[in-house]
Amino acid sequence: SEPIYILAIESSCDDTSAAILCNDKVLSNVVATQKIHEEYGGVVPELASRAHQQNIVPVVHRALTRANIDKKQLSAIAFTRGPGLMGSLLVGTSFSKSLALGLNIPLIEVNHMQAHILAHFINEENAEIPQFPFLAMTISGGHTQIVLVKDYFNMEILGETLDDAVGEAFDKSAKLLGLPYPGGPLVDKYAQLGDPRKFKFPKPKVDGLNFSFSGLKTSILYFIQKEVKNNPNFITENLNDICASIQFTIVEILIGKLKKAAKQTGIKTIAIGGGVSANSGIRRALKSSEKDYGWNTFIPKFEYCTDNAAMIGIVGYLKYKDGVFAEPSILAKARYSI
Ligand code: KG4
Ligand code: ZN
Repeated sequence: SEPIYILAIESSCDDTSAAILCNDKVLSNVVATQKIHEEYGGVVPELASRAHQQNIVPVVHRALTRANIDKKQLSAIAFTRGPGLMGSLLVGTSFSKSLALGLNIPLIEVNHMQAHILAHFINEENAEIPQFPFLAMTISGGHTQIVLVKDYFNMEILGETLDDAVGEAFDKSAKLLGLPYPGGPLVDKYAQLGDPRKFKFPKPKVDGLNFSFSGLKTSILYFIQKEVKNNPNFITENLNDICASIQFTIVEILIGKLKKAAKQTGIKTIAIGGGVSANSGIRRALKSSEKDYGWNTFIPKFEYCTDNAAMIGIVGYLKYKDGVFAEPSILAKARYSI
């Protein structure tokens, strides 16, 4: 049958992204990361939506050029409807609606959290695809969820964070250590040179499969304040060990909940996504869980872990095959559950 060409748009937070897929294969995946937020130490919503407005046309243009596709060849446009920052979502939603109307092609709405999970179904050479049912853990600066995935569009949230996302826990810890935003990758870098058992941080007591990270941040704050009072150079002298101990604690929390979810459901196929999947500690822990607990673990290519339009495109393709399209009057949805 005829190949299906999807243009996908992602603008839920601070990355403007456009991708072109031919069926389940990615032809291009362009991401414009917004540098402006670094000096504020976090995403500023109003600045994010302005930057999306500046970026969206050139990013889409680049995606088409890199894929060597003319917009007249497009079969449909898929866009992130939510969840996310309303001002950011509006840019991608309005752009997609207008272009679909102009080209007279269907529009497909995509849930960003489903897309993080369905990114595992992007057809990549040498990449294995998880079999249903599986457990998906989405870990990033904005999300922390464990989801039971029974089928492409049959998912159930088993647990999620009650406060900060795990990426925020990394970034806020990094900030306490005087590291620049986003500090997660730096904590990871120093952690690899340190002793993970040097300092002990309490793990939160949260029922079931939910998470909480705000208490960890507070205990790290108190710990540092106390130590710096005795030794003003405490942080610089112990940076590697502090980072290793923080990372060790966070990885233990994540793996602990996954073990609980696996036990509760009897499922041993575990798929990870989101920017924190880059973390070397979590990657190592997942690898050893294959030996230790007989799990079968999956992590997509890094560019499909962080916010990207290719993951929106694979959902677009799956919905296109099922003939699931959106009305032209569709609206962005800042709170939008799986
Ligand atoms: O998926 P992502 O790019 O954007 C969001 O949707 O949030 O995730 C970014 C988050 C940031 O909090 C960043 O610090 C964290 O992922 N991160 C890491 C690592 N790489 C990125 N955290 C720990 N270790 C890493 N190697
Ligand atoms: Zn995301």
